[in-house]
Formats: sequence, C-alpha cells, structure tokens
Amino acid sequence: MILVTGATGHVGRPLVNELLRAGRKVRALSREPATAGLPDEVEAAATAELPLDGVTSVFFVTAAFPGGTAEPIARMKAAGVRRIVALSSYSVLDDDPKNMIGVKHRDLERQIREAGVEWTFLRPAGGFAATALEWAEHIRNEGVARSPFGDARTAPVHERDIAAVAARALLTDELVGEAPLFSGPESLSYADRARIIGEVTGEPVRFEELTHDEARQEWLRAGVPPHAVEARLRMFEKLVGRPHEISPVDPFLGRPGLSFARWVADHANTFRKVTS
Ligand SMILES: NC(=O)c1ccc[n+]([C@@H]2O[C@H](COP(=O)([O-])OP(=O)(O)OC[C@H]3O[C@@H](n4cnc5c(N)ncnc54)[C@H](OP(=O)(O)O)[C@@H]3O)[C@@H](O)[C@H]2O)c1
Repeated sequence: MILVTGATGHVGRPLVNELLRAGRKVRALSREPATAGLPDEVEAAATAELPLDGVTSVFFVTAAFPGGTAEPIARMKAAGVRRIVALSSYSVLDDDPKNMIGVKHRDLERQIREAGVEWTFLRPAGGFAATALEWAEHIRNEGVARSPFGDARTAPVHERDIAAVAARALLTDELVGEAPLFSGPESLSYADRARIIGEVTGEPVRFEELTHDEARQEWLRAGVPPHAVEARLRMFEKLVGRPHEISPVDPFLGRPGLSFARWVADHANTFRKVTS
C-alpha cells in the first residue's frame, strides 16, 4: 500500500492517478476525506489520523504537516514504512539561513535520512507553474497579471512532471538514495508567463509590474505566509535580467518536461472570463 499525503494538492492528485494506473493500492490523505473528490478506487483517510497499517511507501509533502514533520516521520518508521519519497526543494542548496524554504526542507531531508528508511528527495527548481494560479482572479476579472520584477526569469515546472518523477521513485528502485533536481524546460520572465496565458486562452493578458510593497500586500492577501513573502522577494531580485538555468527532467522521465503553454492549456478555464 502506498500512502499519499497532500493527496488533493497540485502534485498529489496527478500522483494518485498515476499510481492507480500502475495498478497499486493507494491510501490518500486529506483533512476532509469525505469531500476531497478523490477517485473511488483509493482508500481516502484523514490526515490527522495518519493511518499507517499496511503502508510500505509514502509520498510526503510538508504542507500536510504544519505542526512539524519529525513526529509523522517517526510514526512512519515505527509502523514499518520502508520508503519515503519527499517533495523537497532545490532551495536546500542555498545555505542562506534567512531562506526559510531551504531551512525547512533541509530539516525534512535530515529527519528522513536519520529515520533509516529508503529515501528519494524531489528537488523541483525554477518554481511551480501553479504559482500562476495566484493571478487567476485578476486575469478573469480584469485581464491583468500583476507581479514585481516583470523581467525576473524562472523555469516553471508542471506539477504533472513532479508527480511523474514521484511515481517513478515509488514504483521502481531507480531513484532510491537520489535527490532528483529538475526545472521546467524553458526560461520565462513573469511578463512572458502573462503573455503565454493570453495566447493559450485566446484572451489577451496585460502585465503590470508591482512595487515591493504592493507585491507584499497582494501575496499576503492571496494567503502566502509572511516568511515566504520575504523569501520570494529576495528570490525574485536574484532572478532579474538573466536566463534561468534549465535542469532537464529528461534523465528521470525519458521525455522533456511539459511546457508552460501545456500547463496553461491544462488550467485554461481557470483563467477565462466567466460568461453567463
Ligand atoms: N517551489 C514552488 O514554487 C512551490 C510552489 C507551491 C508549492 N510548493 C511546495 O510544494 C509542496 C506541495 O505542493 P502542492 O501544491 O501539492 O501542495 P499544496 O496544494 O499546497 O498542499 C497539499 C495538500 O496539503 C493539504 N494541506 C494544506 N494546508 C494544510 C494544513 N494546514 N494542514 C493539513 N493539511 C494541509 C491540503 O489538502 P486537504 O485540504 O485535502 O487537507 C493540500 O491539498 C508544498 O509543500 C509547497 O510548500 C512549492
């Protein structure tokens, strides 16, 4: 049995589907399993209960354990879990102690190593394509995308590629003890992302550059935690005016990563104006 934590998340949902397609038994965790919209074939369970009977492998996301990751990892080890595939971050390679994303994921990786289980740490680089969903409401209502540093370049990763690498780490032994680092396939500025959303949906999107203070307010309103807001601003500053390094996912998937245009096509209705 494979346990998927954060099963309703951007990565969790496509991962659950891949594991089911591979014919595996899946237990999927959500805070509200009854209304989580998980496929009928999975055993849906409550995150707070963390049921581990019969579980051999776990997909682990920190978002599901805001109270800390040490205790759930210790419980997994004690229950006989043999493998943990964790969604970490390439920020673990940044030793700046103010980079809280790096600090948090370094802790996570250490706790899992110390548990003495087989591990794989996924280190997506270049940012999640899904962060563009934060623009969705403004794009739908006003046709505008707002962000600081329009010329900051990232290499957005499609969540389906992250899920596909996670599936490989869970279904084969090829990535045991590895920390696959991969970005999306193209270096794009934030202004490029806005343009591509307009091209794919057929509804042009104007890009407006925000000041730092405006960006802080916008992100806090969108629910980004305060420490992550400051980390983002520092990260953006480092990304201005030069191409983002591409770390291909091909070695882990045997195919190129999915483009940002593909990601927009998969989420197009989220960005389109609602017409009655
Ligand atoms: N590098 C980047 O650009 C970037 C961008 C986005 C996310 N991330 C990271 O990637 C990880 C996974 O991404 P994701 O998009 O799949 O995750 P996500 O959607 O943020 O969260 C996964 C699931 O965790 C559950 N969850 C959320 N808050 C919770 C809470 N307070 N207590 C318990 N459960 C909670 C939710 O499920 P239920 O509501 O069903 O319980 C959610 O669907 C996250 O840890 C996030 O930090 C990185």
